[in-house]
Amino acid sequence: MAQALLPAALTLSSAQGSEARPGRAERGGVPSVGTRHARVRASRDGHTSARRNKAMSAPRITIADAAQHAGETVRICGWLYNLRKSGKIVFPIVRDGTGLMQCVAVKSALPDALFETIKDLTQESSVIVTGKIRAEQRATGGYEMDVEDLEVVQRVPESDPYPITPKEHGVEFLMDHRHLWLRSQRQHAIIRVRHEVIRAVREYFDSHGFTLVDTPIFTPAACEGTTTLFEVNYFEDSKAYLTQSGQLYNEATAMAFGKVYTFGPTFRAEKSKTRRHLTEFWMVEPEMAYATLEDVKQLAEDMLVHVAGRVLENRSAELKVLERDVSKLEAIKAPFPRMSYDEAVTKLQSKGSEIQWGGDFGGTDETLLSSDFDRPLMVDGYPSAVKAFYMAPDPARPEVALGVDVLAPEGYGEIIGGGQRIHDAALLLRRIAEQNLPTEAFDWYIDLRKYGSVPHGGFGMGIERCVAWLCGLEHIRETIAFPRMLYRLKP
Ligand code: 4AD
Ligand code: MG
Repeated sequence: MAQALLPAALTLSSAQGSEARPGRAERGGVPSVGTRHARVRASRDGHTSARRNKAMSAPRITIADAAQHAGETVRICGWLYNLRKSGKIVFPIVRDGTGLMQCVAVKSALPDALFETIKDLTQESSVIVTGKIRAEQRATGGYEMDVEDLEVVQRVPESDPYPITPKEHGVEFLMDHRHLWLRSQRQHAIIRVRHEVIRAVREYFDSHGFTLVDTPIFTPAACEGTTTLFEVNYFEDSKAYLTQSGQLYNEATAMAFGKVYTFGPTFRAEKSKTRRHLTEFWMVEPEMAYATLEDVKQLAEDMLVHVAGRVLENRSAELKVLERDVSKLEAIKAPFPRMSYDEAVTKLQSKGSEIQWGGDFGGTDETLLSSDFDRPLMVDGYPSAVKAFYMAPDPARPEVALGVDVLAPEGYGEIIGGGQRIHDAALLLRRIAEQNLPTEAFDWYIDLRKYGSVPHGGFGMGIERCVAWLCGLEHIRETIAFPRMLYRLKP
């Protein structure tokens, strides 16, 4: 029966995400190349070129749309994902970015040269396949294609084969080949979930009265502490910093539009090599005028429920590839549990943590705290000293801030940070001075407290942390196409 069937390659079980390739031992004889096929075609009496002409006139479809074309002869443009052989039948599995299609090439139905070309195809060669779509329950996606013609656009030579093989590869190797690794089913699924998360986030804010306002990447000063700033030369003697957050600008635009959000790349010179940190990540940041900490918490909860719902609704196939336990996502419903920082410290101490009141939570503390819940946990009232300069103090207890962190379940830790901002000019000036920040860089920000200041607040959610959690990933590096980390700037 069929040899070299590598079903595991379709639902990669290892975190490495190694890939299937056609078994080389099966490829007997002279390697065929695309030009050989072309020469054969030219030398024929019209039989093959008539076939090619017919193929060229078949409508091009994507694999995702195959169901709508059952019984029709169509063209699929893609890459060879895998190849199985069974005597006089060859099964090229083609991927086109929208799905996988098992094609069936029968020797007796095809010119000899064409059959040989198909039989000798190499992994990741680019191919255009023409054939009839047929329902087949056992096939991935429920359809197969009976091959009528196949054009090789570029054949990957045996001398320099596709480097990602079915064997286990180390993470460094895969990261070095990230430009190719993205073709694997698992990586593909993650990026599609990421797209869905971004789409759902935008959909949420767009349908709730928020105006999208983009904020600058080059900024004159720190927003989230001076220790994680990336400095760049900005002409002559001046310096600029890559933005850590669009929040300060959002505060200005919120006073102009009421409710705003920004979505863009943010940068942190994080010297930490953890599974949660990137140096470049994408953050969505809503900001609302006339809003309190409670409004911010409700917004975060409502948005997360919406996002988890959309991922479940629209990305179930991808979640399956990732072997994600979807019951964990189905549990993401309001209301989310809430806890004060004070309670969290007591709880952590009872679980054996060394944390003392006044300290910030580390990754382990966040994991301990959130592991008791099946939905995100909202912790508020952190000590002002561990939070950013702009956080409003609780009027009843000025030593704690009106800020909230949302900790994802299953040990994922903080995915959202936000809260209410200081809206009193004098207090804000004091905080800027206390933190040794350059007052002149913040004059415009202080203006916002002089001209119609109102209570306001918002939050920031790191898209990659959210995706890592929803996909159930070990490490944040797989949630973005080309991650930027302490020791990773290439490819
Ligand atoms: O908690 P953070 O630092 O908050 C802010 O930047 C606020 N100015 C946001 C606001 O209120 N508008 O960062 C917000 C979120 C974190 O909860 C986390 O999800 C993500 O950004 N984040 C990171 N993600 C990946 N790598 C890093 N190094 C990250 N640092 C923060
Ligand atoms: Mg934070």
